[in-house]
Parts: sequence; structure tokens; C-alpha cells
Amino acid sequence: MALREQSEHYQHFINGEFVESTGDTRIDVEFPYNGEIWGSVPHGTKEDVDQAVNAAKKAFREWRRTTISERYDYLHSIADALDDHAEELGELETRQNGKLIREMQGQASGFGGTLRHYASLIDSDRGEVIPVNTKDEGMFNYVVHEPYGVVGAITPWNSPLLLTVGKLGAALAAGNTFVHKPSEQTPVSALRMAEIITEETNLPKGVYNVVTGHGDTGAALVDNEDVDKLAFTGSSSTGRSIAESAGRNLSPVTLELGGKSPNIMFPSAELENAVTGAVKGIFAATGQTCVAGSRVLVHEEIYDEFVDRFVDRASQIRLGDPREPETEMGPIAFDKQWEKVRKYIDIGTSEGATIAYGGDRPDDLPGDCFIEPTIFVDVDNEMTIARDEIFGPVAAVIQFSDEEEAIEIANDTRYGLAAGVWTEDMRQAQRVANQIDAGTVWINEYRTGATRAPIGGFKDSGLGREGGKEGLDEYRQEKCIYIDQTGEVANPFQLR
Ligand code: NAI
Ligand code: MG
Repeated sequence: MALREQSEHYQHFINGEFVESTGDTRIDVEFPYNGEIWGSVPHGTKEDVDQAVNAAKKAFREWRRTTISERYDYLHSIADALDDHAEELGELETRQNGKLIREMQGQASGFGGTLRHYASLIDSDRGEVIPVNTKDEGMFNYVVHEPYGVVGAITPWNSPLLLTVGKLGAALAAGNTFVHKPSEQTPVSALRMAEIITEETNLPKGVYNVVTGHGDTGAALVDNEDVDKLAFTGSSSTGRSIAESAGRNLSPVTLELGGKSPNIMFPSAELENAVTGAVKGIFAATGQTCVAGSRVLVHEEIYDEFVDRFVDRASQIRLGDPREPETEMGPIAFDKQWEKVRKYIDIGTSEGATIAYGGDRPDDLPGDCFIEPTIFVDVDNEMTIARDEIFGPVAAVIQFSDEEEAIEIANDTRYGLAAGVWTEDMRQAQRVANQIDAGTVWINEYRTGATRAPIGGFKDSGLGREGGKEGLDEYRQEKCIYIDQTGEVANPFQLR
């Protein structure tokens, strides 16, 4: 049965079709703006996961033998199909996680480009011939790339499809098949994407499968011995447990985890731009992004003026219905996450930080999930709100006196995902960028990205990279093939 005929009682997508779960527990899907429940998906069992992995394993036998140009064409036809449905997919994302329609549709309009990028990478890929160190001519080796097999991908709710498409594109391009366990908060867009791909392309059955469920469904995927490679985006604690299981199965794993990224404001910064950068860093997407600039480090010379302007800008942010184009901040994605954010605001106050703006639930908006943009000042980097990833619109403003101290505070965290540096002094900008332990550093910008560029974390922010050639390489392994053309086999007792 097609997805839209399921009266919003959705099913898994396994081996090219929608199938009922073997279990009977279900998960409600909610629009966090007003709390409306508009669908439900199965809470996938281990049997469901095994079925999807078996389908992917079976499909791998043929899929791995497709030629580069066949995979290139598949990726292009998937890209075209997703382009045609970008508006619909963006809307679906907003109905699940309450993020702004303009952000979600903006992301969706880029999915095609991501897939075409991976197509172009395999299309232009070349191998290497490596000389072997012997006296004989004609002995050499060459290196080929091979897929791993079945990729198990587990994704979060903040940018559900964006974080799926990067993994899917790289995995399929490299010749793997795919089993996806989307977040329990945002499972429907993944099912719809699978349906679009199946209806509008001739991607073989079983190459791409979706099983919905909670964390234990994800764990069943991670523990399945027929899964050959894992890719995860989400919290550092879940990432750590996935890496432990992957270690038991000796499966390679890519992890894109949390952050507590510093956004550093130097005296020579163009102040209005820097304030915009701080707003962009922590209030865009209601703070629910892995790269959020949640620690705003401000030099003492500009501190008072910066904080005044930051507060002023925060007070002008338009909260409201994420479907309205003029809304700038939507709700938090679900009530448990709202409570977590709220709890951290209380901890901030109790540890001695001062709320310069926000901190409450606004009383003129529906649902339970809105929170004001919140700015804490008088923050010490040792405080909980400067150490833990809050994943909400809560900025911790920390004062520093010189460049060295700024770098020290910036790196004094278990995370290392991203950082911002605001200064008109380009020597200073590069000096600081060079010394920051993070996978991404923006100079006089924040939160921009390119599919062609690697993204990933230092320290507890992750393992491996997504995007670009580095991202593709995470989904393939090298094989060295040695050829002897001398016509003579070397002495068996002497390594030549
Ligand atoms: P999570 O990391 O627990 O969940 C992400 C995905 O992993 C979901 O699909 C979930 O079902 C799955 N999962 C959970 N436990 C698993 C397990 N043991 N084995 C396999 N899969 C498992 O994140 P969650 O619960 O959605 O949010 C908790 C916190 O994580 C948030 O408050 C936020 O601080 C952080 N977070 C960070 C993200 C980032 O991009 N940095 C994204 C989402 C959440
Ligand atoms: Mg293995």
C-alpha cells in the first residue's frame, strides 16, 4: 500500500515496499507547534530490523556489481526525484520537528545537489598504481575501492533528511546498500523519501530500507552482525554506546556528535556583523543544531556594548508558527527536549549566571514547546551551561581579556565540532583558527556549509567526516592488487 493511503498509520519500508511491523507498539508523530498528533509509525522490533538487513544484504550482491555509470545514473535520477518533491519534503520536516519551513525547504532543495556531488566524485575517481620495491620491472600493485556491504544509518530529529541524504549518497555511490533508522520524533519524512525514490526511479528493491522505532530499534541495527558499516548523527552519549557495539562487531563507524562551540568576538570585529553571527550561531533553528555557537566569548573591551546589542537583537526575534514565512524562531521539537532546555536554564541561574534576556515560556503562543531566546551573562566556563550541550536557544556569554585566554577557553571543552572567529584583523583570525581544536572554523561567518567540504568533530564531537571525498571514503575500503609480469616466481624463502 502506498504511503499516502495508509491514513497516517505508517509502516516500515523494506525491500521496496511498505510492510507491517511484527510488533504492535506504535509511536505518535506530533506537530510541536500546537501539539497535534497527526500520524504514527511502528516501533520496530529486532525481527523487523533483521528483515530489512536481510533485504539489504541480498540486494548488495547485485548492487555492488553495478558499474560506475549505472550508479551515477541512479544517483542522478534520485536527485531529480527529490528536487521535484523538495517543497513537500520540507513541509513534512516542519510538521515533525517544528523547525522553520524556510530552513527545512532550504535544506530539501539541496538534497539533489548532494547526491549529484557523490555521483560526480565516483565518476571522476581514479586509482593509484604503486611501485613495488623489487629489482624486477613489471611488478606493481594497484588500489581499488570496494564497498563495505550493508550500511546501518541512524539519524536525529533536528535536520532529519539532510543528515540522511549525505549518508545515503555516499553509501550508494560507493556501492553499499542501506538500512535507515530515523529518529522517533521525525520518522515520516524518511518513509516518504523512500517512497518517492521507489516510485520515481528504478532503484533495485532492497538497496534502500527504512525501519522506524526508538533507540532499541537503532540498537538492534547496530548489533546486527550483517551490518558492515555504521553511520550515526546524534548525541555524544548514544554515539559512544554505538561505537562500543561497533567495536564488538569490528564494524567501522562514522559519528557526527554534539558540540559546545565557541563563537569568539574580538575588539576589531565589525560589531553589528559579530552580533548577527552570535544570533545566527545560537538562535537560528531554535538552537537545535550540532554546530550551535552556544558559548559566546567576548573581549572585555567590547563586552558591555556587545551584550547590549545582543540582548536588543534577541528581543526582536519573531517567535511563532514555523509554517509562516516571517517567523524567525519556532518551538523546541518536543516536550522532553523543552524540559531539558528549561532545566539547564534553572541550573544556569542556580550556579550564579545572570539571565540578560529570556528564560521563560512566552505566554502568547500555542503548545508547550516554546522558549524565549535566552542569554546568560556572568558565565564562567566551568559552569554546567558552558560545558553541556543544551541543544536549545541558550547562549552562555563568557568574557575574556586577551587572545591567548580566548583560545584557552575555546579549547577547554570535551567537544570540538565548530567555532566562529570575529575580527577584521586577518592575521589574528588565522592565528586563532589554527589553534582551535574543531572540525570547522568560520571566520566572520557562522553555520554555512558546503556538501563538497568535510564536516566532522574533534574530540567527543565525533569520528570520521561527512561530505566531500573524505565523506565518500568513509563508505569504502581499499584493496591492493599485486601483479607480477616478470614471468618468474620469486624464491619462496626470500621476500622480494
Ligand atoms: P540520541 O542521540 O539519543 O538519538 C539520535 C538517534 O539515535 C535516534 O534515531 C535514536 O532513536 C537513536 N538511538 C538512541 N539510542 C540508541 C542506541 N542505544 N543505539 C542505537 N540508536 C540509538 O538523541 P535524542 O534522544 O534525540 O536527543 C538527546 C540529546 O542529544 C538532545 O537533547 C541533544 O542534546 C542531543 N542531540 C544532538 C544532536 C547533534 O546533532 N549534535 C542531534 C540530536 C540530539
Ligand atoms: Mg564487521
